[in-house]
Amino acid sequence: MAAFNGEITLIAGNSHPELAQAISKELGRPLADADVRHFPDGECDIKLNQDLRGTDCFVIQSTCPPVNENWAELLLILDTLRRSSAGRITAVMPYFGYARKDRKDEGRVPISAKVVANTLAHGGADRIVTLDLHAAQIQGFFDIPVDHLYAKPALVSRLKEITDPNPMIVSPDVGGIKMARAYAKVLGNADLAIVDKRRISGSEIAIEHMIGDVSGRPVIIVDDMISTGGSISEAARICRDQGASSVTIAVSHAVFCGPALERLEAAPVDKVLVSDTIPRNEVDLPSKIEVVSVAPLLAKAITNIHDAKSVSSLF
Ligand code: R5P
Repeated sequence: MAAFNGEITLIAGNSHPELAQAISKELGRPLADADVRHFPDGECDIKLNQDLRGTDCFVIQSTCPPVNENWAELLLILDTLRRSSAGRITAVMPYFGYARKDRKDEGRVPISAKVVANTLAHGGADRIVTLDLHAAQIQGFFDIPVDHLYAKPALVSRLKEITDPNPMIVSPDVGGIKMARAYAKVLGNADLAIVDKRRISGSEIAIEHMIGDVSGRPVIIVDDMISTGGSISEAARICRDQGASSVTIAVSHAVFCGPALERLEAAPVDKVLVSDTIPRNEVDLPSKIEVVSVAPLLAKAITNIHDAKSVSSLF
């Protein structure tokens, strides 16, 4: 397949201007001149101030909190581009909101991730780029190409600098084993342990058992996201209770809602590495939290997509 015949254009929504700027800097291309504002009643007001006809447009927008607002903004930007005759439109969603609602796990509930997928495809996206989907099968909710990237390369580079040798990789639940195995592989075929987690409610979990012996070992707990911080802080607690010599956390999406920051502050954890798929601009971010940027990874993915080169080579 040949490179796309039309230049790369980057368009930023309001969800994460810092990441959009960082990608723009990596690519040496300015963000398109567009106003993404709101009417006094809160409705979204978009205006492109330049001609993007025929160009290869990449819209950078995480559907992080405020999820519904960022989602609506993304859809309206896609529609603007489609009606402005953009050549190709890619929604770059570093964080894909509603991904945890990927199936009917009880009666009379929506499959929200599918609804999001439908709206993006019908809204004008020709392609999706996203990172660490909560469930990889969400790719199948789309009939357009989805490039599913991982924050792992960015987080692993930093983990190699700050963690002790011979670490044990811990998954905080059974669903995270695949991710834990992927980290273990690139961290010298490290040993694996799994926490037996039971969810009591949206913000409460219970952990009673651990499969694997972490005693005397530096532990790295990996997960796709920290939401309320319950899973990760309880996983850290059981690792410490069972004798782990240190606990480092590596997580792709720092959703950090409700009591997350207090829980992380109180948790027996040495370091929390998160990527910047979601903006974390709190001035009082606990010092144990470190943010690693995925801008270089996304910039490279954008270049490769434009040049019709492999994206899987990036992870
Ligand atoms: C669960 O399957 C996910 O991978 C995360 O572990 C979970 O969503 C984190 O939520 P919280 O931080 O609220 O425990």
